[in-house]
Amino acid sequence: MHVFVTGASGWIGSAAVDELLAAGHEVTGLARSDSSASALESKGARVRRGDLDDLASIRAGAETADAVIHLANKHYLPNPAVSNNATRAAVQTIGDELVGSDRPFLLASGVAALTPGRPCTEDDPSPFVGPQSPRGGAENLAFEFVDRGVRTVSLRFAPTVHGTGDHGFIAAIAAIARQQGVSGYPGDGSNRWAAVHRSDAARLIVLGLGKAVSEYPDAGLRLHAVAEGGIPTRDIADAIGRAFDLPVSSIEPADVQAHFGWIGAFFGMEMSAKSSATQELLGWTPTGPTLIEDLDAGAYSVLAAAVR
Ligand SMILES: NC(=O)c1ccc[n+]([C@@H]2O[C@H](COP(=O)([O-])OP(=O)(O)OC[C@H]3O[C@@H](n4cnc5c(N)ncnc54)[C@H](OP(=O)(O)O)[C@@H]3O)[C@@H](O)[C@H]2O)c1
Repeated sequence: MHVFVTGASGWIGSAAVDELLAAGHEVTGLARSDSSASALESKGARVRRGDLDDLASIRAGAETADAVIHLANKHYLPNPAVSNNATRAAVQTIGDELVGSDRPFLLASGVAALTPGRPCTEDDPSPFVGPQSPRGGAENLAFEFVDRGVRTVSLRFAPTVHGTGDHGFIAAIAAIARQQGVSGYPGDGSNRWAAVHRSDAARLIVLGLGKAVSEYPDAGLRLHAVAEGGIPTRDIADAIGRAFDLPVSSIEPADVQAHFGWIGAFFGMEMSAKSSATQELLGWTPTGPTLIEDLDAGAYSVLAAAVR
């Protein structure tokens, strides 16, 4: 299959491209810089130059592909609406292009905040609808295309897709621990985070693509890229403390925002999820290291050293 991938140079996208190529697919990756373009070309992928705001380029990429995997995200922290609007516009553009074609459309989503207070399952629809909601309501927007001949697959990633080189949430929490001189956890640290190793997430994407072609269900497909359903934040803080030789301490709920900054809202949240339905459907068994194994092995040491 010829697959158009946005975010192909990113943390998850670069691993997904490797898996797609290894599985014999042709890949065209959206690249907005020379360095992203040459990284893609060096592994044997084709390049479409363009930005997320260049909807004509995204439309053309989808037009000439057998399937689309949308992973690009501006991740603009000062104003999430900027990222959400771009995500929504790209999803609308790709969906419009794929209407009536029965082609697969896989898009990045997450399990965060979908079912507050309890683990999220594949049966739980996203409550986020409309441009003002988290991720711009992109998952529900993409599922609106299912009845119009698009094989939408939501790739719900755990809040940490971890591994050596990760610059996501765990890297940010480790950096804050270094800056504060203490590895903190919110309250009693019993709130839990789901996790998945990047290699397992990348394998899931390719398996999900195959399933969308071979056996696409009428109601659409929600896949959970979740290897560990819920790691207490206390255990994460303990491992960060071990990794960087820092004391470990509870942070009072009232002080979480001041201590952790923007990531406090996430670190204080229950973000557990299940993936048994995904594992059974795809025959997907996570085999990568656990988050704690990664932290204990020094997977985050390089990034944390950079903020010393
Ligand atoms: N990593 C996680 O733990 C995690 C967890 C849950 C959900 N997700 C979601 O999964 C998706 C992929 O995440 P990731 O960790 O791989 O993100 P990432 O490493 O930050 O990669 C983002 C990708 O988007 C591209 N991009 C950014 N701004 C762009 C723009 N204006 N135009 C075109 N491309 C642009 C980047 O291109 P450049 O290389 O040119 O910068 C890069 O390829 C995102 O939607 C993310 O929110 C990730």
